[in-house]
Parts: sequence; C-alpha cells; structure tokens
Amino acid sequence: MKWLISGGLLLALAGLGVALASEFTDPPAPDGLRPGGTISRSLDTPVISEVIERRGREIRNYPEQPPVIPHSIRGYQVDMRFNRCLDCHSREAAPAAGAPMVSVTHFMDRHKQVIAAVSPDRYFCTQCHVTQADVDPLVRNEFKPVDQVIADMVERDRR
Ligand code: HEC
Ligand code: HEC
Repeated sequence: MKWLISGGLLLALAGLGVALASEFTDPPAPDGLRPGGTISRSLDTPVISEVIERRGREIRNYPEQPPVIPHSIRGYQVDMRFNRCLDCHSREAAPAAGAPMVSVTHFMDRHKQVIAAVSPDRYFCTQCHVTQADVDPLVRNEFKPVDQVIADMVERDRR
C-alpha cells in the first residue's frame, strides 16, 4: 500500500515536472491580436486581404483626415533612395500621371515654412495613408464620421 501511494505520488510529481518544463521551454505565445499557439509552434500565415481598388477618391471622414489610398500599393518601393508614390504624386509628375498632387502641407517643414521638396516629415507616405480591405476589424471601435457626430448633436438638441 505504502509503495502504491509513494509510486503514485512520484508519477504525479513527474507529470507536474513535465508540464512545468514545457511551460518554460515552450510557453504559450502572448495572446495578442493573433492569439493561440506556443512560442515554438508555427501557425498558418494569415491570408493577406485583397485591397479594395476604387475608381475616384474616397470621402474623408473629417477635413484633416489623411485620405485613404484608393489603389493597390503592392510592391511599391519607398526607402531612402526611392519613393514610388512620388513617381505619380509629386508636383512634377502628378499632372501626367492623372494623380492628385500631395497637398502643400507636405512641403512644410516643422516651422510651417514651405520648402521646395516634400518635407522629410511626410516622406514615408504609409505612415499616414493606408489602403482599404473588407475585413472584420481586429479591434472594435465606435468611430463616427464628422457628419454623423453633427447629425447626432442636432438630433439631441431637438429632443
Ligand atoms: C502609378 C501611379 C501612382 C502611384 C505609383 C501611386 N499612386 Fe496614389 N493615386 C494615383 C491616382 C491616379 C490616384 C487618383 C485615383 C482616382 O482619382 O481615381 C491616386 C490616389 C491616391 C490617394 C487618394 C487621394 C485623395 O485625395 O483621395 C492617396 C492617398 C494615394 N494615392 C497615395 C499613394 C501612396 C501612399 C502611394 C505609394 C505607396 C501611391 N499613392 C502611389 C496614382 C498613383
Ligand atoms: C504625417 C502624415 C502624412 C504623411 C507622412 C503623408 N501624408 Fe499625405 N496627407 C496627410 C493629410 C493629413 C492629408 C490631408 C490634409 C492635407 O492635405 O494636408 C494628406 C493629403 C494627401 C493627398 C491629397 C492631396 C489633396 O490635395 O487632396 C495626397 C495625394 C497625399 N496626401 C499623398 C501623400 C504621399 C504620396 C505621401 C508620401 C510622399 C504622403 N501623402 C505623406 C498626411 C500625410
């Protein structure tokens, strides 16, 4: 009987040891926006969503919004030496490309002084401008465009 109990105890301890060891050698991955798996396990790469290509420009949700990009930018190089976006959107190239020129704010330095070339502050376009895809948002939000905010205020005042 004694042997049985201590044997069982030993087994339980060994099991616990294995569980703890794997907790250290292969801990669960942080449950971020893409939860699941352990550090060493590779999960399937999520599919890259199809970019929505639209003819024409999107309405901005508020005046200072960086307009969203209505075309695919797959493979467009933007680095220290080359900026594919400016191939079409620069002051010189825009008319021939039929693209809107970057606005005058993109030529302002930090003192709001207009300079001849696109300011370094605005060089990496995708810091602010993004393409659109029809996906389930990873994080829910209750954002409303400015017209909706105003309409809601008018509605509230009427009541
Ligand atoms: C081959 C030329 C070309 C390249 C390269 C290009 N664009 Fe465009 N882009 C256009 C054209 C043309 C439009 C206007 C679309 C329309 O009016 O139908 C446009 C529209 C846009 C708009 C919408 C502007 C608005 O007021 O709604 C943004 C933002 C934009 N592009 C950003 C970018 C960024 C960022 C890059 C680089 C990653 C880029 N574009 C590269 C041709 C280009
Ligand atoms: C720091 C954020 C930021 C960066 C970086 C930036 N933009 Fe913008 N962009 C904006 C905002 C905000 C607007 C709308 C207000 C304005 O015109 O300044 C805008 C407007 C635009 C427009 C519409 C212009 C018009 O007159 O309708 C185009 C086209 C554009 N950006 C292209 C680009 C390109 C190409 C780059 C990279 C060379 C770039 N932007 C970098 C924030 C940015």
